[in-house]
Amino acid sequence: MKVLIVGSGAREHVLAWKIAQSPLLSKLYAAPGNAGIAEIAECCPIESADLDGLLAFAKKQSIDLTVVGPESPLVAGITDLFRREGLNIFGPSQAAARLEGSKSFAKDQMHKFGIPTAHYETFSNINEAKHYVIESEMPIVIKADGLAAGKGVVICETSQEAVSVLTQMMSEKIFGHAGESIVIENKLEGDELSILALCDGEKVIPLASAQDHKRVYDGDRGPNTGGMGAYSPCPLVSREKIQEIVDLSIRPMVRGMAKEGTPYHGLLYAGIMLTKEGPFVLEYNCRFGDPEAQVILPRLKSDLLDVLNQIACGRLQLDALEWHDKACLGVVMASQGYPGFYEKGYVIEGLDSVKNLNDVFVFHAGTSRNDKKQYITAGGRVLVISALGDNLRMAYDRVYAAAQNIRFQGGFYRKDIGRRVMEVYR
Ligand code: AMP
Ligand code: GLY
Repeated sequence: MKVLIVGSGAREHVLAWKIAQSPLLSKLYAAPGNAGIAEIAECCPIESADLDGLLAFAKKQSIDLTVVGPESPLVAGITDLFRREGLNIFGPSQAAARLEGSKSFAKDQMHKFGIPTAHYETFSNINEAKHYVIESEMPIVIKADGLAAGKGVVICETSQEAVSVLTQMMSEKIFGHAGESIVIENKLEGDELSILALCDGEKVIPLASAQDHKRVYDGDRGPNTGGMGAYSPCPLVSREKIQEIVDLSIRPMVRGMAKEGTPYHGLLYAGIMLTKEGPFVLEYNCRFGDPEAQVILPRLKSDLLDVLNQIACGRLQLDALEWHDKACLGVVMASQGYPGFYEKGYVIEGLDSVKNLNDVFVFHAGTSRNDKKQYITAGGRVLVISALGDNLRMAYDRVYAAAQNIRFQGGFYRKDIGRRVMEVYR
């Protein structure tokens, strides 16, 4: 099969790496890809927002399956476009991708299908929203309705702060159209868990559990990011409990979406908060988590290409996936300043020294090559180092030993990924 991967991050690198192991693969392309993906796939310089360019490329190369990494092309309708032209593609339709594209839609669907989630109100009028926060008990969570590259959620401790966030989102439009309408919800407390499941519109196959670390600094301090590291499986919940959470968060949504004529085909990701009152859904994403994919997929034994292709063809033949009985932990190396402003173009040193380490993988996120063919930084999140181990502690030790060898100016990473659970679950 000829396969095209859309996207340019470490999630797309791990997808490419896993798909490249499939005996079904004949040729792998990525658009636009990055310097790491270019080692295993042919990269073509088409941005993931250029749906017509991607379509023309897929037709020209007679691509058998396109796998979409990021949310924006899905929310923009790439799946519908490819299908109309008779091309096979993995990912939900535009109507189904609204679960990530519109937070108010996702909340309304959860409410309709009886899925536990924080109490919420939706506003498109700033005065009404301000009035609501002034009357509400703090803290409160304000969310831009549309896509905001992981930055559209703010937890406000005071009503003054909440009013200022509303002004930024709704009047100053710091997230453009995405913040014209907003969701305000109660703040939940607890540990977070990522539940990812493959869905063919009807059948649901959960992947292994994972936990992301969203805050930029050790000890969960600093602003939210796209994710600074993750590990899998998550020992906070037993396998049976994971099944219960899937029954609570994924299955009713998949059933409900099918009933409404917008079946969910693809990867559905539920962000869960494990509260004292039980699991609550924080959000849905319509694609693999990043960096969750970088710690889940190294543990997968099954042929990922085969499974994704089954879903793209309309029907999952499998009932379960096979997993390695190892833990995986991954750490993001980021550019100084991330998630705010950062410089690009610094040379990344030491990649060769970790290349052949056993069970250690370097997935590139924001990288490219300079004219001397050196790897250079090209994004906020630069690399993800993942490692397998017999348990989380072994994976942790391997990742951090490898990370010490890789350097670039201003580069930093969290030193405590997975540490809290390792201390509790020895
Ligand atoms: P979301 O994009 O909706 O997942 O929000 C991003 C992050 O904000 C989540 O991973 C949580 O850490 C936090 N968050 C979102 N909603 C809530 C909530 N209701 N209570 C507490 N934290 C939240
Ligand atoms: N790691 C969070 C996300 O992929 O949205």
